[in-house]
Amino acid sequence: MSKPVVLVTRKLPQAVEARLLRDYQPRLNPDDALYDRDELIKRAKGADAIVPCHTEHFDARLFERLPKSVKIIANYSVGYDHVDTEAAKQAGVVVTNTPGVLNDATAEIVMLLILGAARRAGEGEKLVRTAAWKDWSPAFMVGTQVTGKTLGIVGLGRVGKVVAIRARGFGMKIIYHNPRRQADEAGAIYYETLEDMLPHCEFLSLNAPNLPSTRGMLNAARIALLPEGAIVVNAARGTLVDDDALIAGLKAGKPRAAGLDVYNNEPDIDPRYRELPNTFLLPHIGSATAETRDAMGFRALDNLDAFFAGKEPRDRVA
Ligand code: DGY
Repeated sequence: MSKPVVLVTRKLPQAVEARLLRDYQPRLNPDDALYDRDELIKRAKGADAIVPCHTEHFDARLFERLPKSVKIIANYSVGYDHVDTEAAKQAGVVVTNTPGVLNDATAEIVMLLILGAARRAGEGEKLVRTAAWKDWSPAFMVGTQVTGKTLGIVGLGRVGKVVAIRARGFGMKIIYHNPRRQADEAGAIYYETLEDMLPHCEFLSLNAPNLPSTRGMLNAARIALLPEGAIVVNAARGTLVDDDALIAGLKAGKPRAAGLDVYNNEPDIDPRYRELPNTFLLPHIGSATAETRDAMGFRALDNLDAFFAGKEPRDRVA
């Protein structure tokens, strides 16, 4: 039997591509070009599977045009908000993601955002890099201490729990809000409503998925509930934030600072974020470690292997 044909939309780590070449007939993307809709459809002709990233959007219109040969979309990502799962079901296409393998890397980035925003790392780095650093004084570059503060986590899931454990290493008190209380709370204290939790959040970390219920959740009314000096970080999805509200808040000093790795409309983010001195900005690199990028690829391939062996892929989401 001939090996299944797999369209891989972006350049993947070498070890992952080696396994693809061993077990499949992959259509690789050595130049790492970003395929537009037409290009994607063209390249998918005759393919049995697609391994995409969150950079490709599989909406209902795309599913209408997707060649019928495509039976599975094995995402190279844990988030699958770029895939319309209802449209996939209607088209009879299986969808999988890569949960679990990004937790440590993403929690590291959350800690970096917390530290970077609190200790003004972006401003400090710019001063040194541009030779604008001229002096030292007790008033110079004073930030917010992280140790011993209260961290509120919105979305105590796989990543949120690792954030709770890492943050405890800084002596932080951890509180959380989820729609439902978790069986494994990773030592965090539960708040039934976000509104009740926010006034206690000296730091607030957004770790929820992009869902209709979470979109724009950090809005002006909720920002107003934060305590003075609060710092907000987001390494989950930009859609959780109402940009107008956060930017207005940052300009007015509440929150005092924000550390962001994800944004609405990436990579064409709201340019006002760049102008604010109290933002610490990263380019969606939560999972960007060599170890994790390999693990994501292997997990996507495990899902493909199961599917083509006639088994249920472990990470099936549609
Ligand atoms: C994920 O896996 O969801 C990361 O955000 C990268 O896409």
